[in-house]
Amino acid sequence: MSAEGSISPAAEGFTLSDKDFEAIAQFAHKHFGLAMAKSKKPLVSSRLARKLRQRNITNFKDYLASLDGPNADQERSGLLSLLTTNVTHFFREPHHFETLRNDVLPGLVERARNGGRVRIWSAGCSNGQEPYSIAMTVLEQCPEAARLDFKILGTDIDPVVVRTAQAAKYPEDELAQIDSKYRALLPARDAEGRLPDSLRQMITFGVLNLIEPFPFRGKFDVIFCRNVAIYFDNPTQQKVWSAFQNVLNPGGYLFIGHSERMSGPAAQHLKTAGITTYLNSPAGRTN
Ligand SMILES: C[S@@+](CC[C@H](N)C(=O)[O-])C[C@H]1O[C@@H](n2cnc3c(N)ncnc32)[C@H](O)[C@@H]1O
Repeated sequence: MSAEGSISPAAEGFTLSDKDFEAIAQFAHKHFGLAMAKSKKPLVSSRLARKLRQRNITNFKDYLASLDGPNADQERSGLLSLLTTNVTHFFREPHHFETLRNDVLPGLVERARNGGRVRIWSAGCSNGQEPYSIAMTVLEQCPEAARLDFKILGTDIDPVVVRTAQAAKYPEDELAQIDSKYRALLPARDAEGRLPDSLRQMITFGVLNLIEPFPFRGKFDVIFCRNVAIYFDNPTQQKVWSAFQNVLNPGGYLFIGHSERMSGPAAQHLKTAGITTYLNSPAGRTN
């Protein structure tokens, strides 16, 4: 290990000391809410070593400093991608889209058609397949949705994936997996290969860290936050569930990932309404 403390060349490349792993784990917890078990050390070590070699950084202290340096956004985004996965696909966990289509949208579409406001949030949307799947589900039920006050918000902590989502360009083989009733909503892509205006117009994308206070004034009718909280420790998960409950309208729905569970104070109000599906039922209200 160098006197700077840190990355030392090992037989097959760099290795991360326990102290360096602890420093990364603390940074990731403070800034991204991530819980990193010690068992993750070999994985983090090999991924970080590759990154440092590519970047010609020879000591860990320099790497940590880069996370607060002039390119902090980019560096943090790179670290986040190294510690988590952006894996996603269209209509992932299809049962949620069936619930959305059959149980949730009829009331919301009626409200929007009567001039009301409807908001759906895809929190931790990665490269955008989730909010576009929501938009397709809405459009299939309500072709005029883009002309109503019916909006979808897609956010992620990582600006790189948010840019990909905004670009709205996906490989044909990925689009070919989409069920035909929704694929019918995707006529030929425009000259730049983007998804059609009808879908893009409904969605606004932004960068948002779920462990920081939410900046919203209005409330949401539906929140999808799937396969994100799995990276958080239990207290952080509970805070995020409560924060969602606070920004959900009474009678609103929260969809979470297949290996995530509701817990903590929010569980008093977010009642199971299907597989990893919760209905916001504030005390004293019957929905
Ligand atoms: C596996 S993807 C999930 C994508 C999509 N929701 C799905 O289920 O297919 C996890 C996403 O969570 C994002 N993420 C991780 N920590 C986050 C945080 N603190 N705030 C917002 N997004 C976060 C990552 O950048 C990544 O894009």
